[in-house]
Amino acid sequence: MQDHLDILSRAVDHWTNKDRPVSSAITAPELEKILNVSLSEKGCSPEELERAIHDYLNYSPDVSRPDFFKLLYSGVNTPALLGDWITSLTNATMHTYQVGPVSTLMELELIRQWNQLIGFQDGEGVMVSGGSQANLIGMMLARHHAVPDSKTKGLQGKTLVAYVSDQAHYSNQRSVNVLGIGTDNLVAVESDQEGRIKPSALEAEIEKSLAQGHIPFYIGLTAGTTVLGAYDPVKPCSEIAKKHNIWVHIDGAWGAPVLFSEKHRHLIADCHLVDSFAWDAHKLMNVPLTAAVVLVNHTGALRACTSGGGGEYLFHQDANAQYNLGERSIQCGRRADALKVWLSWKAIGNQGFAKKIDYLQDIKTRCVEMVQQNDSFEMLAPAAYLNVLFRYVPKTSMSEDEIGELNKAICKTMVAEGGAYIDYANYKGKYGIRLILANEQITPEHLEKLLNECERYGNQFDDA
Ligand SMILES: Cc1ncc(COP(=O)(O)O)c(C=O)c1O
Repeated sequence: MQDHLDILSRAVDHWTNKDRPVSSAITAPELEKILNVSLSEKGCSPEELERAIHDYLNYSPDVSRPDFFKLLYSGVNTPALLGDWITSLTNATMHTYQVGPVSTLMELELIRQWNQLIGFQDGEGVMVSGGSQANLIGMMLARHHAVPDSKTKGLQGKTLVAYVSDQAHYSNQRSVNVLGIGTDNLVAVESDQEGRIKPSALEAEIEKSLAQGHIPFYIGLTAGTTVLGAYDPVKPCSEIAKKHNIWVHIDGAWGAPVLFSEKHRHLIADCHLVDSFAWDAHKLMNVPLTAAVVLVNHTGALRACTSGGGGEYLFHQDANAQYNLGERSIQCGRRADALKVWLSWKAIGNQGFAKKIDYLQDIKTRCVEMVQQNDSFEMLAPAAYLNVLFRYVPKTSMSEDEIGELNKAICKTMVAEGGAYIDYANYKGKYGIRLILANEQITPEHLEKLLNECERYGNQFDDA
């Protein structure tokens, strides 16, 4: 064990004391030629293992850096990292209290806190592998609500229809596929210019389904869409849902942490009105992957929907039976993700997360101002949250496709030349540069440098 701890300690030094670009732009075929990842009959020495670890680190993008603008998380949450290591040390699993006693109590406390932030009066929940699974469970609960015997008998020829906005995450497609709803029965409802679902369009789609004899069963709202960071309006959609007895779920995988902030929680106003809620701690809260939860405003619903199937060998009816979280989960073995979330929440408190949100919203506002004050750029849509989607506007006349290609080239070249890690995205037919401002270490100087670089590459390709 000590040998491996020494390797770990040197790996941490190697990772934190490096001087290299935020990411390596190497392609998979090139990397395959450089690295030997083959396994063999015979084992190897600890030195060989350490070399492999260094290779692993050298070719991994450094998501902790303020010039990593690509994904929905950036930075490092050290109490959570510590928790991740301790979790592996104990290697507990979360199906029963017996094997994860402290992590069970921590998970229950986290669930209480999350429910309180949302305002669920009758809240329960369970930690899951990510927002995708949280959305899947939300839809599974909705199916159970609409057709309770679907658990035992299947859909029996009924056509159930789910509604999300045309900006919703692709995990919704996966959910209708897994649950036997069918991808044709997932309706992408039109969104407005700010990327929010249009309640009138939602209502019209529901009426259309009803006229066809189908069963509308699920409305999936998004709090913080992936590309734009838009927040769907909760109240009008939940009123529509109420009329038709439809389950409403909020996908807050990315945008839920605004609930920590007094100043910005209005973005998900009325979220207590819905039935279930997805929240990723491995995005803005920066807990190492994976850490997420599905929260439900109907105590007992998770167990009613997921339990059964011969788990008696595991779930004994003893004094701890109420604490066996596995009975409300679709997983058996489940990593004790609660510890790392709990440690970081304990370390900085609700106020620590609120401070982060408030700081990053200020940085976002500054970034938008810089974009708007520069004639070389234009915003593609307003930035409600921490996604800034803008593009370089060429001086020469170009088609929409050519402008898109130019903006993609800015991102690709910046990464290839060892600059900031940025990416492009398409919003309503236009390609732009998508910045995610998730790292508290980002300063106005970082933004200035980044935008200067975008302009420099843009001018270069514009003149070419
Ligand atoms: C809005 C939204 N929902 C769900 C997901 C999926 O979350 P996960 O990657 O944790 O499965 C994402 C991922 O980016 C997302 O942006």
